[in-house]
Amino acid sequence: AAGAAGLALGGASGALAHSAFAGSGSGSATGAAGSLSSLGATQVAFHGDHQAGITTPLQAKGHVVAFDLAAGAGRTEAAALLRRWSDTARRLMAGETAPTADSGIALDAGPSSLTVTFGFGHSFFERTGLGARRPTALDPLPDFSSDRLDAQRSNGDLWVQIGANDGLVAFHALRALQKDAGDAARVRWQMNGFNRSPGATGTPMTARNLMGQVDGTGNPKPSEPDFDQRIFVPAAGPGPAEHAWMGGGSYAVVRRIRMLLDDWDKQSLAQQEQVIGRTKATGAPLTGGGETTEMALDKIGADGKPVIPSNAHARISAPEQNGGAAMLRRPFSFHDGIGSDGAPDAGLLFICWQADPLRGFVPVQRKLDRGDALSAFIRHESSGLYAVPPGPRSGEYVGQRLLE
Ligand code: HEM
Repeated sequence: AAGAAGLALGGASGALAHSAFAGSGSGSATGAAGSLSSLGATQVAFHGDHQAGITTPLQAKGHVVAFDLAAGAGRTEAAALLRRWSDTARRLMAGETAPTADSGIALDAGPSSLTVTFGFGHSFFERTGLGARRPTALDPLPDFSSDRLDAQRSNGDLWVQIGANDGLVAFHALRALQKDAGDAARVRWQMNGFNRSPGATGTPMTARNLMGQVDGTGNPKPSEPDFDQRIFVPAAGPGPAEHAWMGGGSYAVVRRIRMLLDDWDKQSLAQQEQVIGRTKATGAPLTGGGETTEMALDKIGADGKPVIPSNAHARISAPEQNGGAAMLRRPFSFHDGIGSDGAPDAGLLFICWQADPLRGFVPVQRKLDRGDALSAFIRHESSGLYAVPPGPRSGEYVGQRLLE
């Protein structure tokens, strides 16, 4: 029930009724395994054309982790690691225990919509001798003038995104995958995020971010005819055959964006709404209607100015203002206590998905970087770009078409 209106896909077709609740201990507080709540019982498929965690509805808890291969680890070790990771992810997403030495953290719980998503960073390809098969779409993102990036918390050889509707289930997966890394890879950085829990609102609705805005309205919808083309690499190319392993994959841009919440909270409601160009209460455009009404970008107010200001975030980022550039935004909020500046270290783990970053994130961020109205209240603190291979077929591990 949670998540952006445009992200209802996993709930409908990606989520399976959870029937075999094997190996996760006995007797939950509610009695037999069959009486798990629908939240705990919901299972997302591990196999498929695309990896889970892209069109899956937003989950309440998330961890994103980057790993670097250990010195001396190359293609063989990387392939073995992806095989171990895939086995663990498949089992945990089915509500089973980890293949080795399960920590017990998720005993009693169902899969709770757990998803695990794996990606490869630019540096992975040199480390594994696979430079010739690195897609150009993975070329480093350009520098943006407002970037305040921490290199230690950016990039990385491998990227893992974990999401679940239960905090213990998510942490359980994180620990299992970290242990699987063994001597082959070490954690480069890790971030923790959250969204609203399913069932917290009276009716399912688009999520809010920590500025209080309805966030996700303009996302491409899986029901739209060009959705797959915008979000996923075509199954049969395009491009050189050595990049065919990415067919059905997607590119994830990950940015830790700090929100300057103390400054934000000093703005009046009217000022806050001008920053985005939409109302805070419902997310409707300032030009009227409801959340899903199209923005009337040409509408001029009594003062002779556009009703949706010329620097409003939703105007500047809209696909029709960017030659059709579109992306699927699927973020987590984060809160890491109080920063050294005495202000909340909180914001958005911005994660967006697209078939090609040069037709998604890059042109839009170039325009926002020139100073949209939101820029004064946010700071991009870390950045990553990852090639996320297609979903595994039955018996395959994630990334096998690259690594075998
Ligand atoms: C729209 C918030 C960063 C791209 C929006 C909306 C809000 C919002 C409230 C309007 C509702 C919606 O359509 O979702 C934020 C916040 C950010 C942030 C709080 C940072 C903390 C970014 C970044 C990008 C981006 C970095 C991409 C480079 C978009 C796009 C839309 C949008 C494409 C939809 C425009 C449309 O289709 O009408 N954002 N945003 N946003 N944002 Fe952001």
